Amino acid sequence: MMWMMTPQFEPNDKWALKARELGYRARSVFKLQELDERFKIIKKGYNILDIGAAPGSWLQYVEKRMGPQGQAIGLDLQPIEGLSKAIQTFVCNIEQLEEVDVILQSAHPALFDVVLSDIAPSTSGIKDRDQWLSIELSTHVVEISRKWLKKNGTLVMKILRGADFDVFLKELKPLFREVKVAHAKASRQSSREVYVVGIGKKSENRSQ
Ligand SMILES: C[S@@+](CC[C@H](N)C(=O)[O-])C[C@H]1O[C@@H](n2cnc3c(N)ncnc32)[C@H](O)[C@@H]1O
Repeated sequence: MMWMMTPQFEPNDKWALKARELGYRARSVFKLQELDERFKIIKKGYNILDIGAAPGSWLQYVEKRMGPQGQAIGLDLQPIEGLSKAIQTFVCNIEQLEEVDVILQSAHPALFDVVLSDIAPSTSGIKDRDQWLSIELSTHVVEISRKWLKKNGTLVMKILRGADFDVFLKELKPLFREVKVAHAKASRQSSREVYVVGIGKKSENRSQ
């Protein structure tokens, strides 16, 4: 019998090796780098919220790009340790929006220039379920962005593309001047993940 040539999980793939060489905590840093190079997302002095931030490679990248005047906050179910003082991290479930509000009110009451989300549900292997959970989490990310992203700010989120994706995108579009859907080279070939980039939030009104 011939073995099927399905893509295998390769913990030591070229992106993982490159991340290790450069001192990044995860290969996903290259996805953010690619999006940043393409859409010019992060600038010096920016205030940035990173949702689903553990183990912290996006925050490592953000720190370099925002420079000493910038500030970043990372939220995750898992603790993130060992980053610099310009970065505060908190353990929380972002589905608890009130908890997120309380954390942000005390740690960073000002609105953010950029909200990033690489959040991912624990995958079950059941494709439809995982995609649905990804949209669920992304809906919370949008709610947080409605409140905490500045007017003209940028939202970047990872989503597993599935049946509900088009409806989700349709609902997101009115909130931004422009919404782009991008694939990252460092995403695994077998992955259905895409990055949605909302550019130019239209309103600062938290109820819109
Ligand atoms: C792919 S990882 C993020 C990797 C990160 N961008 C990096 O570069 O290090 C996805 C993260 O989403 C987090 N996550 C999943 N559900 C969450 C939730 N409800 N609240 C907060 N974080 C969550 C997971 O704990 C996990 O650390």
